[in-house]
Amino acid sequence: MIKGMDAAIFDLDGVIVNTAKYHYLAWKRLAKQLGFDFTEADNEKLKGVSRTRSLEILLEIGGIEADESARHAMSTQKNTWYVQYIRDIQPADLLPGVVDYIRYIKQKSVKTAIASASKNTELILNCLQIAPLFDIVVDGTKVSNAKPDPEAFVRAAQGLGIQTESCVVFEDSESGIEAANRAGMGCVGVGKPGNLLNADIVIQNFQQLLVINLIHVTLHGR
Ligand code: BG6
Ligand code: MG
Repeated sequence: MIKGMDAAIFDLDGVIVNTAKYHYLAWKRLAKQLGFDFTEADNEKLKGVSRTRSLEILLEIGGIEADESARHAMSTQKNTWYVQYIRDIQPADLLPGVVDYIRYIKQKSVKTAIASASKNTELILNCLQIAPLFDIVVDGTKVSNAKPDPEAFVRAAQGLGIQTESCVVFEDSESGIEAANRAGMGCVGVGKPGNLLNADIVIQNFQQLLVINLIHVTLHGR
């Protein structure tokens, strides 16, 4: 339940920027190399989860067994392709309204964080030129337990010095929403409602949220 928002914790992939399509392309390419098809519906299961766990799920779907060193090679190959795809992302690739929304809440003294499973977070934030917008970044290099474990969100709240119940998470994945719920935080789902059933509210994009906030300010003051 959303009670108030002293801190806003943003997932990165699929919330700030649509890198999800590039993760999908790279996993699909790996699956093709391994001899099976990997669909967009399959890809929903990979959103939000770590690279290692994503590979496990992919191999389960393809019915493929691989030892540790083969898995390491596959995961490295996938990441090489992924980094090639995202190398050219730029501020124009930011999802609609998200930067305006972050600037808007910062003016209202809300703290901001990124909590992402991605080990490419720093690269992506730099390409998008938005690193200074966040008070803290908790990424895949800093957490041991990937979503749906709440560790990334709890670490972000601790780093900001804000109680978990005063944090609101913005997430596009089922595993991220479960993590937010387990952390005892409010959760805004970003995307299609059908995939985000356990979020407190679902928005299609941040432009929509800005409009809702401006209506609220007009009717009720700050
Ligand atoms: C999450 C994505 O943010 O990061 C997942 O939703 C991805 O799809 C995970 O597997 C790990 O990302 P990376 O960049 O470290 O492979
Ligand atoms: Mg995501």
